Amino acid sequence: MSKRLQRILCLDDFEAAARKQLPRPIFGYVSGAAETNASLSDNRRAFAEYGFVPRVLIDISKGSPQTSLFGEAYAAPFGIAPMGISALYAYRGDLVLARAAAAARIPMIMSGSSLIRLEDVARECGDTWFQAYLPGDVREITALVERVAVAGFRTLVVTVDSQVAPNRENYLRAGFSAPLRPTLRLAWDGLTRPRWLLGTFARTLFRHGMPHFENNFATRGAPILSPSVVREWSERGQLDWTHFALIRRLWKGKLVVKGVLDPDDARMAREAGADGIIVSNHGGRQLDGAVSPLRVLPAIVAACPGLPVMMDSGIRRGTDVLKALALGAKFVFVGRPFAYAAAVGGAAGVERAITLLSDEIQRDMAMLGISRLSELGTHWLFRFSDTERAALSPPGNPAR
Ligand code: FNR
Repeated sequence: MSKRLQRILCLDDFEAAARKQLPRPIFGYVSGAAETNASLSDNRRAFAEYGFVPRVLIDISKGSPQTSLFGEAYAAPFGIAPMGISALYAYRGDLVLARAAAAARIPMIMSGSSLIRLEDVARECGDTWFQAYLPGDVREITALVERVAVAGFRTLVVTVDSQVAPNRENYLRAGFSAPLRPTLRLAWDGLTRPRWLLGTFARTLFRHGMPHFENNFATRGAPILSPSVVREWSERGQLDWTHFALIRRLWKGKLVVKGVLDPDDARMAREAGADGIIVSNHGGRQLDGAVSPLRVLPAIVAACPGLPVMMDSGIRRGTDVLKALALGAKFVFVGRPFAYAAAVGGAAGVERAITLLSDEIQRDMAMLGISRLSELGTHWLFRFSDTERAALSPPGNPAR
């Protein structure tokens, strides 16, 4: 492992390294959230509201974080959340993430807003899940779902919290747009980040040509860099559960709904034939102030007995994973840290991130006094009152 990766000791360490490596607009795109960052901050705060009540002198020598989901055995209860334009912040980003996940036996969800053809990822990493933003038109939905099925994906994730584009204010402040506009400022941002310029951008252009949005529709979309092209953001405002029902009829594999925060929507998803749901506020990137998934998780789990309820948004530590599972999540997904890890260290970086989080989970399980994740439940948690929380140090590691 490189010296650089050896210095990375937890998922948060990747962020500082990525900030130094990526041009400002691209780092801004990955790290950014909507408007006032209210959801982004609350996603972390929600975890700090719980403490653990560990048990002692229990034989935990044969403990394991393995778990199963949709009939698959996974080495750990977390996967890589779908993230758009990965191939812009890491060379062949989607492939790097998918390969590292496959090697570690955890799931990776390929984003529909990606710059590598979905067929290329499916061919090499057949267990990858695919995430679609639904086009607004029935013919386009059908064509996209057919394309994903023909490519060989077996799990389709439909993201439902993005019927309109979020406020782009913070992206614009960072100089980011999609497509990126070639300006002097952008050129300067790139030139001052030579590792990214040569190792990711120039290498991609030289070997694969100008990246385009490949998978939002059944056909190719806009290039990632253009002075004039406007990205097609198909009209999605009219989408409703009938469109989801159509997908259910078309898609024979596992079908997951991502972006649910209300127990009634979770029930509707289940009635419409979803095999699982991901409780998510999109990492705070859509509706600013949308409630943190951890807060609504117990109500959603109670509303859908037997349905695998997964969650994402704000998970950075093994302790976060265990808290989410204790509150009823079957599985969790992690976003930004894996983007940073791919940017900083390519495949080795993603492997390092997976290992760090898996090791934390395993160690935390032992210190909690459990050998199997199925032992988790709310009785392992203590919910702090407001006064108790105020007396605690803020989230994060004060030593850093
Ligand atoms: C995302 N997310 C996302 N979600 C989705 O369904 N489709 C997508 O294309 C994207 N794109 C995307 C890009 C980037 C750079 C980020 C950071 C996030 C949301 C993602 O899947 C997930 O919900 C959040 O990232 C989870 O929050 P954390 O782990 O980043 O806090």
